[in-house]
Amino acid sequence: MSLSPAIVDRLRDEAKAAAGRAYCPYSHFRVGAAILARSGEVLSGCNVENASYGLTICAERNAAFRMITAGATAFDVIVVYTPTATPTAPCGACRQVLNEFGPTAEVICVCDGPDVIRSTVHDLLPRAFGPENLG
Ligand code: THU
Repeated sequence: MSLSPAIVDRLRDEAKAAAGRAYCPYSHFRVGAAILARSGEVLSGCNVENASYGLTICAERNAAFRMITAGATAFDVIVVYTPTATPTAPCGACRQVLNEFGPTAEVICVCDGPDVIRSTVHDLLPRAFGPENLG
């Protein structure tokens, strides 16, 4: 899909604001994500950690689950922001969850430096296991 710079800017702003609300007292690694649902809605999420470390949820999955909660089931773009010098791509678990709702979606990872990782869910998770595998 053709993406206007204005929508990418908006998603970046939302992802950055979400990163500011991250609950990450253990890693101190803030992540924010903003999804553009096919409905046009924008849903953001931040990482939320827990004293029982394994219960931590990443920003990308939080945004995806908020999208489902909002009633949208597909998305076209996700912007991931970290307040770092280089961009951070989604972890493997998040790639799997993103594949469920946006296998062809664009993934744009931005940071405080000039570098940007621009990819697609498909390219980040080739030969994915997805809903179609269940028949
Ligand atoms: N984190 C994310 O939010 N997204 C990713 O894709 C990678 C990792 C979070 C989880 C944890 O709170 C912190 O970053 C350090 O792993």
